[in-house]
Amino acid sequence: MEALKLRVEPGFRREVKAERSFCLLSTIGNTPLIQIQQMTKHLRGVQVFAKAEWLNPGGSVKDRAALRIVEDGERSGELTGDKIILDSTSGNTGIAYAMISAIKGYRVELVVPANISEERKKALEAYGVKLIFTDPLLGSDGALIEARKIYDANPRRYFKGDQYNNPANWRAHYETTGLEILRQTSGQMTHFIAGVGTGGTLIGTGIRLKEHNPRTRLFGVQPDNGFHGIEGLKHIETAIRPGIYDESILNGTFFVKTEDALEMAHRLAREEGLWVGPSSGAAFWAALRLAESIGRGLIVTIFPDGGARYPEYCLDCERQKKRLSVEHPKLKPSPP
Ligand SMILES: Cc1ncc(COP(=O)(O)O)c(C=O)c1O
Repeated sequence: MEALKLRVEPGFRREVKAERSFCLLSTIGNTPLIQIQQMTKHLRGVQVFAKAEWLNPGGSVKDRAALRIVEDGERSGELTGDKIILDSTSGNTGIAYAMISAIKGYRVELVVPANISEERKKALEAYGVKLIFTDPLLGSDGALIEARKIYDANPRRYFKGDQYNNPANWRAHYETTGLEILRQTSGQMTHFIAGVGTGGTLIGTGIRLKEHNPRTRLFGVQPDNGFHGIEGLKHIETAIRPGIYDESILNGTFFVKTEDALEMAHRLAREEGLWVGPSSGAAFWAALRLAESIGRGLIVTIFPDGGARYPEYCLDCERQKKRLSVEHPKLKPSPP
């Protein structure tokens, strides 16, 4: 049998040895669009679909943005082999940077709140990333401020990923997620709804979908207050506003309680076979409210990562709620 001829692409340190189509990076994106069947049975005339983003090789939607941030940096000449990739992240973007950098041969330093889950710490350490911990009480904003300080003290040493302000973040979704949804729904989607962390997924995908059909309606999903337990999402009013988040293109925002997001995530596992994380539960809770308020339509949402990333949330609902009321005393319990 003839040996496969692999083209060596120019890269840094360790070259990307395989042709792009044989490389793990080529498996980022093109995730399945899955119809939610059981939990939408009561709806007449409305269908709900979700992009299965946990099937990306790094396990989350953030593979898309991180790849684009790194490759835009390479193209502009700002990211060179002697630089260390630096960003603040609560986990998923970090894992994506770590995976991509392992392949391309870059070093990575991540500023993370000290209370990120042990699983995430382990994953990041497995990829060989250096972690800098910040006060858990200061959340993702504390990590963001610290990352800025580290960069400002030594700008020649670092390439600043800056996922909250880097247009490469939303462009990744404009060029991949949005196009995939158009193709997978044959352009028939009427509503798009997604959680807001940096806003990259919602804004980039939303701009593409609106360009295709200006009547497409766009909705954001945020936690209902600043002290929440929905990892990956931001309560914009009480947080540092991401530079790439432009709510002027939105038709509305749904605010979700942590308990509702978790309960929905549990139900998605048990009733649909979709073991997803809390932010997927939040997105689907809002998608259902939206579905119940419209007569006809095809709603698409995003399930950013899988439940395996949150072993601490794999308890039953009642135990989960008790745990939350201890860890997040400011969360108001839902009415019985
Ligand atoms: C679990 C999870 N859900 C949702 C999001 C939101 O995505 P975006 O930053 O594109 O708004 C993130 C982002 O980090 C995330 O990690």
